Amino acid sequence: MKILVTGGCGFIGANFIRHLFSVHGDGVDIVNLDKLTYAGNPKNLAGIDARPNYRFVQGDICDADAVREAMADSEAVVNFAAETHVDRSILGPDSFLRTDILGVFVLLEEALKRKVKAFVQVSTDEVYGECLEGSFDEEATLNPRSPYSASKAGGDRLAYSYFHTYGAPVVITRASNNFGPYQYPEKLVPLFVTNALEDKPLPVYGDGMQVRDWLFVEDHCRAIALLLEKGTPGEAYNIGGGNERTNMVITRAILKTLGKPESLIQYVKDRPAHDRRYSLNFDKVRALGYVPSADFEAKLEATILWYRDHAEWWKELKSGEFRQYYETQYGKRIR
Ligand code: NAD
Ligand code: DAU
Repeated sequence: MKILVTGGCGFIGANFIRHLFSVHGDGVDIVNLDKLTYAGNPKNLAGIDARPNYRFVQGDICDADAVREAMADSEAVVNFAAETHVDRSILGPDSFLRTDILGVFVLLEEALKRKVKAFVQVSTDEVYGECLEGSFDEEATLNPRSPYSASKAGGDRLAYSYFHTYGAPVVITRASNNFGPYQYPEKLVPLFVTNALEDKPLPVYGDGMQVRDWLFVEDHCRAIALLLEKGTPGEAYNIGGGNERTNMVITRAILKTLGKPESLIQYVKDRPAHDRRYSLNFDKVRALGYVPSADFEAKLEATILWYRDHAEWWKELKSGEFRQYYETQYGKRIR
């Protein structure tokens, strides 16, 4: 199989490329199209770049020429490329609308011309909005409440429309909160682990009782690979981990694993439109054979220790553009 992976230098995309090579070895050809925004890091694929069956193209999914060049020989597309951080979408939504909607359009147009056999649009559980009771299945109403989730809902529904209108072989995935190695240190787990390691405050939004369903990134990658092969075109699939935890539980686990004091916790002004809880019913992907890891606490601990043991990876990221972002996002909140 020849696959175009977009956003492969980001957190999940890099884990996905590693997963495909570990399972298929020389039996898969991968082109990685990535713009290398602040979140894209070629070091996430260290050791992969020398493979003869891997090609990197630096380019924007909104750029039709770059997409044409990258997709030239592809039989399948998996679109991870996106602006992904809710807090940044509140500070400036423009790039979210552009990449997460227009970029999907450009990819879909080229996929139709190329007659690719499969197109996975990686969406998110955030398109449903908050779930105060029970769990959402794939028929639940979409009710996105942040510029990020609204943009992702736009890409999700545009992909769906290309199946119905033009017969594009689109499968949509909606996963919950991923954790694991190589996540940019703006998201809860890597931010709090690295702040704790630096003895800096852990800025908990509001009361910290928001609930997320934590999904180990390798489980997510296995589910996407499964859906690439067995997903029904035109269908959406939820992918959960079955690990609903409050942010405080995650925060305390981080401090305990690192032997750091709870006095590092600092409650700060809440995120606007902060969704209280996400919860997915993912029976549909389970029916295809997906089983999430059973050992959440062990996977979380291994993830925390991965960041402790890869300080050179995150220190470089936290020293650049990140400082300006951190001051804008947290400066007043923490002071
Ligand atoms: P990330 O922010 O770590 O990486 C995004 C990658 O996309 C980066 O490498 C970046 O350079 C690239 N990119 C951004 N704009 C681009 C453009 N215009 N053209 C080409 N490349 C571009 O994101 P992630 O956490 O790995 O998320 C990957 C996908 O999974 C996204 O679509 C996201 O919405 C979705 N998702 C993420 C989670 C999660 O918990 N992280 C959960 C569900 C779904
Ligand atoms: O649910 C899937 C989504 O998960 C993905 O679609 C997004 O791309 C991904 O970023 C993630 O979104 P969240 O907003 O849930 O992730 P984040 O790590 O930003 O926040 C997780 C929770 O932690 C959320 O309730 C907000 C809270 N939080 C986050 C940060 C960064 C804090 O309390 N303090 C913080 O500093």
